[in-house]
Amino acid sequence: MHVHKYEKIWLIFGITTLIVFLSVVGVSAFYAGNQPPSCLTVIDPEKVDTTAPFNEPGLKKVEGKDWDYELVFVAQAFAYTPGDVEVPLGAKVKVIATSKDVIHGFEVAGTNINMMVEPGYISEHITTFDKTGEYLILCNEYCGAGHHMMMSKIKVVE
Ligand code: CUA
Repeated sequence: MHVHKYEKIWLIFGITTLIVFLSVVGVSAFYAGNQPPSCLTVIDPEKVDTTAPFNEPGLKKVEGKDWDYELVFVAQAFAYTPGDVEVPLGAKVKVIATSKDVIHGFEVAGTNINMMVEPGYISEHITTFDKTGEYLILCNEYCGAGHHMMMSKIKVVE
């Protein structure tokens, strides 16, 4: 079978890029451990206030886990609980959030934390705050008339 020279070049180019892209995805998933945010943890959105850990929102020191603290947030129109929270510098923190009503966003400005917070599901993200300062938490999913006022703050202190 005769394959034209340009056809051959494009075939090689196409197969090479395919292998490169699949390798990038593979290394990212299996070596670097990247994965989509967990949507598998469910919760009854009507019982958030009585379900642990959301019955006690805020920062909690934990023992025997890969992270030092758990930072629990409850989102509802149009606020987060807690409103302000202090986190010690350098601590490895697991942020855990859920919503009591509609879909909200949970973006911590200046960091790579950017979660969707959905009623019925628990969103989690593990991070280390290694710079002191104030970090604004913003809702970046339109959730109603007070959406633009929905915010909270993380203060990283020594
Ligand atoms: Cu909550 Cu927008």
